[in-house]
Amino acid sequence: MATPGTSVVSTSISPSTSASFHDRFTSSSFAFTNPGVRVPKVLHPIDNDDLKLLLLENISQEAVKAFQAHGFHVDHSAKAMSEDELVEKIGQYHAIGIRSKTKITERVIKAASKLLVIGCFCIGTNQVDLSTAARAGIPVFNSPFSNSRSVAELVISEIVALSRQLFERAYEMRTGTWNKQSKGCWEIRGKTLGIVGYGHIGSQLSVLAESFGMRVLFHDVIPLMPLGQARQVDSLETLLKESDFVTLHVPELPETTNMISEKELKSTKKGAYLINNARGKVVDIPALIEALRSKHLAGAAIDVYPAEPGANGAPFDDQLNSWSSALRSIPNVILTPHIGGSTEEAQRMIGEEVSMAVTRYLTSGSTLGAVNFPEVDLRAIAPEQMNNVRICHVHINQPGVLRQVNDILSPYNVEKQYSDSKGDIAYLMADIADVSPRDVNSLQAKISKTNANILTRLLA
Ligand SMILES: NC(=O)c1ccc[n+]([C@@H]2O[C@H](COP(=O)([O-])OP(=O)(O)OC[C@H]3O[C@@H](n4cnc5c(N)ncnc54)[C@H](O)[C@@H]3O)[C@@H](O)[C@H]2O)c1
Repeated sequence: MATPGTSVVSTSISPSTSASFHDRFTSSSFAFTNPGVRVPKVLHPIDNDDLKLLLLENISQEAVKAFQAHGFHVDHSAKAMSEDELVEKIGQYHAIGIRSKTKITERVIKAASKLLVIGCFCIGTNQVDLSTAARAGIPVFNSPFSNSRSVAELVISEIVALSRQLFERAYEMRTGTWNKQSKGCWEIRGKTLGIVGYGHIGSQLSVLAESFGMRVLFHDVIPLMPLGQARQVDSLETLLKESDFVTLHVPELPETTNMISEKELKSTKKGAYLINNARGKVVDIPALIEALRSKHLAGAAIDVYPAEPGANGAPFDDQLNSWSSALRSIPNVILTPHIGGSTEEAQRMIGEEVSMAVTRYLTSGSTLGAVNFPEVDLRAIAPEQMNNVRICHVHINQPGVLRQVNDILSPYNVEKQYSDSKGDIAYLMADIADVSPRDVNSLQAKISKTNANILTRLLA
């Protein structure tokens, strides 16, 4: 039953999970949906036929439908849950989907006796105690790159807006002043864009900028294949010296903290523009304010800040960041509230990507893309290998585990296996041929009893 304030809508379509293991094992309908197409064997967990998922924080209906299409029972709610609510309810669920407001703490994980996987339907995963989840054998998935295009498009719009002093003119019109001018306003065609960090966003932006007729330079710590006519330069300094627009797309790391400071700003061309949609700490803002006030820079667009308000409507003032009012007072500075990746398309793609990763883990054991787990995957079991069983064994990363498990598997032919570790946690996947339905439970019991076992699941 839902607690006050948190209405949980419950839906389930589970014809495919209600059949017994034996029925599925002997049925050929799983292997061939169309005789002309070679479809891999569809795997299901053998010991928890009715997988239950809890989706909180208004996760998209597309994700709910995708889970239901796999036969999972889905309870979904528009709200986040408190730690106490979660502790009370989580014990009945095999998977949970959250955004950034629901905190999955150690206490919640300890109460989550059946939990197999956590899906963060957002970019970050700070809201989850990742190491406790890993030690409990629970991989965590997120969607770090689904909003790359949204950020790249915002940057293009900022390049044009800065170059035409668009926000100044629009603000003057709103306040009733006609101020038509062309001085200091430029086309972006033929100008040089310097991209710092040529990853998911930087490389997309490179393509978009070239289609506007810009010349693109980039700087990255690793040598990368340039797209189109873009050119990688040997140093940040070279990029700063040659660029009319400098845009930052690096992660937040000790090396990138204040990577654009007084010295770097002095290296930029006079009249250049700076754009930061990456992370707040990458730019030394007091130094930027100085460079703008002295008119060395002609403008800046900033979407991310060292400290950001926790909720909409909260003030963006000097209590939050001591320089807020100084930055706000400078002309041709575009300030946005961390909206680079905030589009309907990005939200939809997050829903698709995370629901796919969670489903893939539940039905095939793949941990590709997990943030707290070794990433392991096996190629699919062929449709004719009807009696193959997949073993998914999460264990403590210690010597001797593979020998113990392979001893247990020695009566069978191991078709394929792969194991990897991350810190204290290791994960083995193995496909075993010709396991009779009778032997499946004893195989699982034997592996579960090995001394490094955290969680053993069998899929068939
Ligand atoms: N404003 C927003 O709403 C928003 C949305 C999404 C991402 N972001 C941020 O944008 C940034 C880039 O995201 P991404 O998805 O392109 O990341 P990414 O990991 O795909 O690319 C980052 C690139 O930066 C390079 N790099 C790392 N350290 C560097 C250094 N010291 N100098 C030069 N290059 C360096 C890496 O080699 C990599 O190629 C991240 O900080 C991310 O948090 C912001």
